[in-house]
Amino acid sequence: MGTPSERIDDPLRPVYHFTAPSNWLNDPNGLIHWKGTYHLFYQYTPDNPLGGLKHWGHASSKDLVHWRDHPIAISPTPGSCDEDGIYSGCTVDADGTPMAFYSGVRGPNQLVCRASSDDDLMTWIKDPNNPVIDAPPDGLELVTTDDGTIHYRDPSVWREDDSWWMTVGTGITGTGGAVLLYRSRDLANWDYVGPILIGDSSQRHPVWTGTVWECPQLFPLGDRHVLLISVWADERTYYTAWMAGTYRDLRFTPEHTAILDPGCFYAPQTFEDEQGRRIMFGWLREQRGRAAMASATWNGAMTIPWELSLGDDRRLRYRPVPELQVLRRDHRRVEHLELGPGHATMLPGLDGDTLELDVRITPGAARVVGLILRRSPDGSEETRIVFEPDNEALAIDRTRSSLDTTGDRERHEAPLALADGETLQLRVFVDRTIIEVVANGRVMLTERIYPTRADSLGVGVFAEGGNAIVERLDRWRMTAG
Ligand code: FRU
Repeated sequence: MGTPSERIDDPLRPVYHFTAPSNWLNDPNGLIHWKGTYHLFYQYTPDNPLGGLKHWGHASSKDLVHWRDHPIAISPTPGSCDEDGIYSGCTVDADGTPMAFYSGVRGPNQLVCRASSDDDLMTWIKDPNNPVIDAPPDGLELVTTDDGTIHYRDPSVWREDDSWWMTVGTGITGTGGAVLLYRSRDLANWDYVGPILIGDSSQRHPVWTGTVWECPQLFPLGDRHVLLISVWADERTYYTAWMAGTYRDLRFTPEHTAILDPGCFYAPQTFEDEQGRRIMFGWLREQRGRAAMASATWNGAMTIPWELSLGDDRRLRYRPVPELQVLRRDHRRVEHLELGPGHATMLPGLDGDTLELDVRITPGAARVVGLILRRSPDGSEETRIVFEPDNEALAIDRTRSSLDTTGDRERHEAPLALADGETLQLRVFVDRTIIEVVANGRVMLTERIYPTRADSLGVGVFAEGGNAIVERLDRWRMTAG
């Protein structure tokens, strides 16, 4: 994670969210809990803050909170099928040997390759027979862009019923994103089975799913299966969608589909740890201007680890892993605070830029209610987490987050409807430029903000249009991970 002093010197750099030692990071890859150690690999361009040639960076942790950087795990080999990039993928336990599957990029091709490790995931030896799948399946017209790129990538592998299975993300021209399924007995020879699901890019409801699906992952959760896809179209990455449904006869049938997080979150990956928990990391994209990114020493962060479950309504639930509580310091609590409409109540003594907050609010008659974060004493900078009960929407208002206006300030709304009598519960993780929110365990919204002032640290609460009550607000300062 870089040396602690480097990290603390840059007031924009998160301290308890994972960032690469320097330069560009994107998707989490190859997540695995191996012999008591968590391993996080990630898309990494070690020499450029704006991205470029992709490698697999590597870090490990005993507790999902404190991470140790390791040398780059997998690098492109000039003259080989991965000379233009080691794209996203996974790791599996191949009968006692860690094995990584990734997309090797060469020119227009993105083909499935593999590598294995005989020293507990520190060094990786590529299969001399790469690529293990040397062409996309015949008979499908895959989305191909002007530069010739055939969009077919991001293998995800698991074991089930004496077979190994693999999905690959792609898009079918004129139709929509798709997840293709393969089967193998030995992890070396793969047979194409068929698509488990094909999207329809002409449909807007319940969620528009673009033309190509990146980083698909299918996994069992509760009494259903969940499919995560990251929506790509016309050279743009949009958001991740989750689908919960049934996986039967090698086809996935969604029952619920929703955007996982409409903010900066993208390309998550999950894994089951040795305690049987389904844990997710996602990539938090920067949302600042290109010039600011070009002059920064780092780019991109991971979410905190979120534990996933399925609610009785068969929708996703998110819980911060309890391990994060070791970072908590300086607990403060505010109870039963009545909020009158139209003015903000600042909470002196609760301020900070690396915080966890757990807040319960009864919106009452308020039209808008929420939290104020990273506010300067003169109010020239502030960020608001806003809940609008009538509109059934949660958003992060960034219009005044920064005096520097080159960053993204767009409002991304997450649908949030409270049941009658249900309290609004916000779990919030503030880490310098990251605001990560889960509302009522079921709605996730993450954004990046770039305050310019060192004194933009204030925390407050507000209501508009009617009275509301803060039932309880717990706040901790979070130390460096
Ligand atoms: C998603 C993605 C993947 C690809 C990787 C390249 O962000 O585009 O589809 O494998 O990033 O870095």
